[in-house]
Amino acid sequence: MDWGKSNRMNRIIRPKTGRTLMLAVDHGYFLGPTTGLEKPGEMVKQLLPYADCLMPTRGVLRNCIDSKIDTPIVLRVSGGTSILNKNLLHEGITVSIEDAIRLNVAGVAFSITVGTDWERDTILGLSQLVDEAEEFGIPVVVVTAVGKGLGKDARYLSLASRMAAEHGASIVKTYFCENFEKVVDTCPVPIVIAGGKKMPEPDALKMAYDALQAGAVGVDMGRNIFQSKDPVAMIQAVREIIHKDANPKEAYEFFKQKCKE
Ligand code: R5P
Repeated sequence: MDWGKSNRMNRIIRPKTGRTLMLAVDHGYFLGPTTGLEKPGEMVKQLLPYADCLMPTRGVLRNCIDSKIDTPIVLRVSGGTSILNKNLLHEGITVSIEDAIRLNVAGVAFSITVGTDWERDTILGLSQLVDEAEEFGIPVVVVTAVGKGLGKDARYLSLASRMAAEHGASIVKTYFCENFEKVVDTCPVPIVIAGGKKMPEPDALKMAYDALQAGAVGVDMGRNIFQSKDPVAMIQAVREIIHKDANPKEAYEFFKQKCKE
């Protein structure tokens, strides 16, 4: 692997543990002012010390995040539809590779929607992005987005994840499911899981733990952190699982303790 790309990969997935805690704050690109991210700069500022990597849009990065930070950025570079559109996640490239480089990114993120009428558009968009990003040694994180009516089971997610890898993903971001080992084992690149909708903290911590046990290298988690009753305590608890091998019970005890501080 080219040194630059290898270095960027090592900034995203920490070599010391081979894992990563990515903080996803890109939701506004199709959801608008998501609960918890009404003022993204303020939320991110308090969470950043505990994140290995930040995943924002360029608008939030430029306007709300201090350029003095040294946290690697995986920049959301796809979009095109909103939550109101019936063709949700019919996405294309929304950021040029030049602008991503200008923003000094460690990686770029693009969503594909396998199983929709517009899957071809998203796959061709991904392929174009991979061509452009590879030229500069920039890893592409592919999000296997799950549109309305699509399943979140191992059969579907292994299909979408494998397709993402076959089309050039350096990292795949997908959802946790039963038999997640199958998704990981049949995907030749590292996998991180999205958190999905907010759930009780013990459940989110267990999901992160189970995903790692199944072979994921980490999480790219958003709502289950920034919508927690204590986001700073929650990200630290997730970190205990990712980098310190805490089990879900230990991590939840840690969370409760941090909440009291
Ligand atoms: C969705 O496509 C966005 O990339 C989100 O960043 C992603 O779903 C992860 O966030 P959450 O943990 O809230 O699901």
